[in-house]
Amino acid sequence: MIQSLRGMNDIIDSERFEYFIEVATKVARNYGFNYMETPLLEETALFKRSVGESSDIVGKEMYQFIDKGENDVCLRPEGTAGVVRAFIQNKFDKAGGNYKFFYHGPMFRYERPQKGRLREFHQFGVESFGEESVYEDATMIMMIADILNALGIGYRLKLNSLGDNNCMPQYRDTLVSFLEEHQEEICEDCVRRKGTNPIRVLDCKNDRCQSLYINAPKLLNCLCPTCGDDFDKLKSILISNNISFEVDTHLVRGLDYYSKTAFEFVSDNIGAQSAIAGGGRYDRLVEFLDGKATPAVGFAIGIERLLELIQMPEMKREGYYFGALDDEAVELVISLAQAKRKTDKATVLYRSKNLKTHLKNADKANAKFCAIIGENELKESKIWIKNLEEKTEQVIAITEI
Ligand code: HAM
Repeated sequence: MIQSLRGMNDIIDSERFEYFIEVATKVARNYGFNYMETPLLEETALFKRSVGESSDIVGKEMYQFIDKGENDVCLRPEGTAGVVRAFIQNKFDKAGGNYKFFYHGPMFRYERPQKGRLREFHQFGVESFGEESVYEDATMIMMIADILNALGIGYRLKLNSLGDNNCMPQYRDTLVSFLEEHQEEICEDCVRRKGTNPIRVLDCKNDRCQSLYINAPKLLNCLCPTCGDDFDKLKSILISNNISFEVDTHLVRGLDYYSKTAFEFVSDNIGAQSAIAGGGRYDRLVEFLDGKATPAVGFAIGIERLLELIQMPEMKREGYYFGALDDEAVELVISLAQAKRKTDKATVLYRSKNLKTHLKNADKANAKFCAIIGENELKESKIWIKNLEEKTEQVIAITEI
């Protein structure tokens, strides 16, 4: 039997999935964002240049191949790079102004699968272009909070600032000096990171490294006045909007394009893979991908990690369930259902001739009305209808339905 690939799941719990998309879409629209869809397949160079060659995503996890036209392509590991490419390709950067997009769909990372970590997973993301103010960073965070609150999901918010071109290089040098002093004690990965992207050592999973980095120089102590003021402003907006957060100076994110604000929402109820959303500011990326310099900020939520946490609203009964107790009546119930579907939900069961089975199936279909035609009803052009909400029944003329 052919099975799905490792780390690639069928979404069977589709009610929760659809409900998530519905709620998140509504919130995104309330904040003035419009839907954008970009291809699943892009040139590999797009991710190398944006997510960064030193990141695990590009270095180890890409679904990359040469297509029949000899193009080096890969399945998107995340959504931001494609949206930025589309933003530039459609010349929105040259036109100027603010652009706000949301998207959702599958992302692909060749990771080691475990609970909450898949090779094909789904994200709901938003990207906001043209807004330099830290108020927009706060708005992103409030948007995620709105989505999670609407779904009844508790969270912890971790916040950091990664500085900008003024302060980051200096911090990086200080950190490298610290790492060199401890060269013998840090893990192999951190030795490599020291040469490629030193700040990534800060979220190393090795306990020995982590206990060492408690004493590493702190990024937040090295921010320039602009980044420092922005970070203070961000914290104060969140406080006045009742959003609690923890400052985490080791939060560096797994993608290289961030500057200034970086954040992650985590849940304590889903095991080791606890990040449910992440994002931040990426003011340099548009220019880096050959567009006109444009400030930008965004986030993505990992849908699969949330599914089990969603508190579903009580599903209201709706529409009709049609059944026949006699073969002769089947064609009639099919056409009645067909007519009903112009305005209502209507399902039909062709097989059964048993009222009890029909009632059970109508209940399972969450129908409001169970409408049945038997031999007698057929002769008299009538139909028996039970209102499953009010538990009342009546026989009416078929023309009345
Ligand atoms: P990310 O932190 O790599 O950010 O991914 C966002 C979320 O996707 C994570 O918090 C997690 O919930 C989910 N996720 C990531 N990898 C997996 C996986 N292997 N299995 C299941 N869920 C996963 C980004 O992708 C950025 N593009 C976010 C962003 C948008 N930044 C600015 N704009």
